Order: sequence, then structure tokens, then C-alpha cells
Amino acid sequence: MEMNNVFVSDHHVIGDSLTHLRNKNTSIESFRNYSDKICFLLFAEAIRDLEFNQIKIETPLAPMLSPKLADEVIVVPVLRSGVAMLFGAMQLLPKSKIGFVGMQRDEKTAIASEYYWKLPEIKKNSVVIVTDPMLATGGSLLHLINLIVKKKPKEIRVVCVVSAPEGIERIHKEFPKIKIFTASLDSHLNDKKYIVPGLGDYGDRYFGT
Ligand code: URA
Repeated sequence: MEMNNVFVSDHHVIGDSLTHLRNKNTSIESFRNYSDKICFLLFAEAIRDLEFNQIKIETPLAPMLSPKLADEVIVVPVLRSGVAMLFGAMQLLPKSKIGFVGMQRDEKTAIASEYYWKLPEIKKNSVVIVTDPMLATGGSLLHLINLIVKKKPKEIRVVCVVSAPEGIERIHKEFPKIKIFTASLDSHLNDKKYIVPGLGDYGDRYFGT
């Protein structure tokens, strides 16, 4: 599979946190702690090459030029499980704005539609980061990306905890330039569209459903 624009983290703390998330015996408390940690670190990787300006500051010892993030980050979670990734993201980027799009699929026609839409204003320097912890078939993510593209942000990026090759392929078939940041590229989807080996249902494990 073409691996352009897929960034699988080799950060040891991300790897260690993912081990905890994958383990079926991990408590909800630990799951939340390691999820927040992994998302913080994944977001740090995802914003690494955004645009920074050099601004004038003074340290107690001398004036200097120092980098400041120039792009505005807007995070849009895929509901429901993408919301779990907001806590880590907001800790790292306290000034980031958050948008919500609620989608539902008509059971008869399988056509997805939006029942809720609240996005911050998208400007020339807006980088929209869409979050979905488990990139499985990529269906909802793709639907969301297609809606956001129409608002013409500077760039759209995707942050996922675990990804399946099927989901990545589907996103990149339509949007090859979108950068996908993930902690792991797993083996495949099973017949219920769960990622294998994966970690089960992220939303259920994070929210305690
Ligand atoms: N969503 C999940 O929470 N887990 C999977 O394995 C696939 C989709």
C-alpha cells in the first residue's frame, strides 16, 4: 500500500501508552489517562511542520527571536469517539478552536446527513485537524472531510490512534494529500469492521458505556 502522507509514530511513550490501551484488562481510569497522553503526543507530532512566525521576545537576559505558531488549529472530532481525543489536544493547544458535526445515516438508504453543524469560522490560516481514534473503514471520516473541504481551510489533517490499511486507503484514494498521523497501522478489519488486533471499541472503553 502507498504509504505517502501516513505518519506512524515511533515515539516510545506513544508505543507504551498504546500497550495499555490495547490490553483488555486496563481499567477505565487508566484507559483515559493513557488515551489523553497518547493524544497529546500525537497532536504534537501532527503540528510539528505547521507554520511558525519568529516573534521578538525578551528573556531575563537578552532580546531574541523565538517561534510562535502562526496557523490557527481547529479540531473537529468524529462523533462519538473522536471527542475522547479532545482532552489531549486541548491540553497541548489551549487556543485551538473546536467544531462539531453530527452525522447520521438513514438506515434504509444508507445516505449520511448532518443533524448538527457548528464550526468556527475557517480562515486562510486555519488548519483543520479531524480526530477519529479508530480509522477503520474511514466512512464517517471521509464524509466529514468532504464537508470541511467545501469551507476551503488551508489544510486538513487527520489524527487517529489506531488505523487499518482499508481506512487509510479509502481516505487517500479521494484525498491523497491529507496527512494522517497515527500511533499504529494495524493488520486488517474483521467481518464486523473492528480493527485487528486493535483495542476494541474506543468510545465504549473511554466513556464507560
Ligand atoms: N471503532 C472502534 O471503536 N473500534 C474498532 O476496532 C473499529 C471502529
